[in-house]
Amino acid sequence: MIDLRSDTVTQPTEQMKAAMCAAPLGDDIYGEDPTTNAFQEEMCDLFGMEAGLFVPTGVMSNQLAIKAWTAPGDEVIVERESHIFNYETAAPSMMSAVQLHTVESELGVFRLDDIEAAIRPPEYYYPRTSLVCIENTHNRFGGTLYPIDCIRELHQFCHGKSLPLHLDGARIWNAHVASTTSLREFGDAVDSISICFSKGLGAPVGSMLLGSRELITKAHKYRKVFGGGMRQVGMLAAAAQYAVAQHLPLLAEDHARAQQLASELKSIEQFSIDTERVQSNMVLLDFAASEMTAQHAQSILAEAGISIGMGMGNTLRAVTHLDLSDDDITRAIDIIHTCFRSL
Ligand SMILES: Cc1ncc(COP(=O)(O)O)c(C=O)c1O
Repeated sequence: MIDLRSDTVTQPTEQMKAAMCAAPLGDDIYGEDPTTNAFQEEMCDLFGMEAGLFVPTGVMSNQLAIKAWTAPGDEVIVERESHIFNYETAAPSMMSAVQLHTVESELGVFRLDDIEAAIRPPEYYYPRTSLVCIENTHNRFGGTLYPIDCIRELHQFCHGKSLPLHLDGARIWNAHVASTTSLREFGDAVDSISICFSKGLGAPVGSMLLGSRELITKAHKYRKVFGGGMRQVGMLAAAAQYAVAQHLPLLAEDHARAQQLASELKSIEQFSIDTERVQSNMVLLDFAASEMTAQHAQSILAEAGISIGMGMGNTLRAVTHLDLSDDDITRAIDIIHTCFRSL
């Protein structure tokens, strides 16, 4: 089976496992895990942030940011197709007692006028707007980029309104490699950022929230509340550290393979591919104008040995990742052509 569902399906390599086994460990609840402490500092340096907190998942990292930035009854501005709004099981309402105010965007990039219109006036009967969130790269739009100039402009705007800006940077690594914007430039342009090591980089577990010392002190407390306090967690931090050091440079290959998929599949008539949108490691196959549904195509491809996920609407989403070789991509292209030719 060639697995194009997600960049999270990767297996830890033998070298990664060796790094995990060799990591010096201590009890992180006492703040004594040397590997986790060093890794948190390393990520702070990389993104130019004051403090960092290692957590198991991207959802926990985003939700800790929301919890730490808001008070019950507040409102958080999020993009309509964002991960936070669509895939985090209404956690902001459950964990932080806030509501989400969704705003449409241009492939994940907000228009400032729309944000301005979404900010609540200070009347007692409105919720208080207390946070703006963005996502880079944008998952549901197919790995699209939020250009650094637009993030800076939004940050300045939010600053003028005394609103913090949080970045869901689960795939900030892809954004960095695809745009050549440095990780520090992204860090400088937001107030907090959630980064993941289990997407694209190939670690089995792990995310980190980065921000000011004050924010991370609050998040540290809430991580315990959320049940995310961990003991000899350096074993996991070591995998993430290895993933950043060894696998970050390989993302350029994933992006080239996504381009190859897009350019060699776009002639197939049953679906369309907007090649402009192929900006990182994802390709959306759009069946909107087809008589075939994406779901039906998914089952045909599964029988032929291609595992591919559903995307937004009537689309399939192909994602390139660390465990796919050039050969796998060539084979996938052949199989997909054969499947659709015979229909
Ligand atoms: C953009 C984005 N944010 C957050 C997450 C959540 O990460 P996790 O699955 O580690 O909770 C994901 C997961 O795929 C994601 O794509």
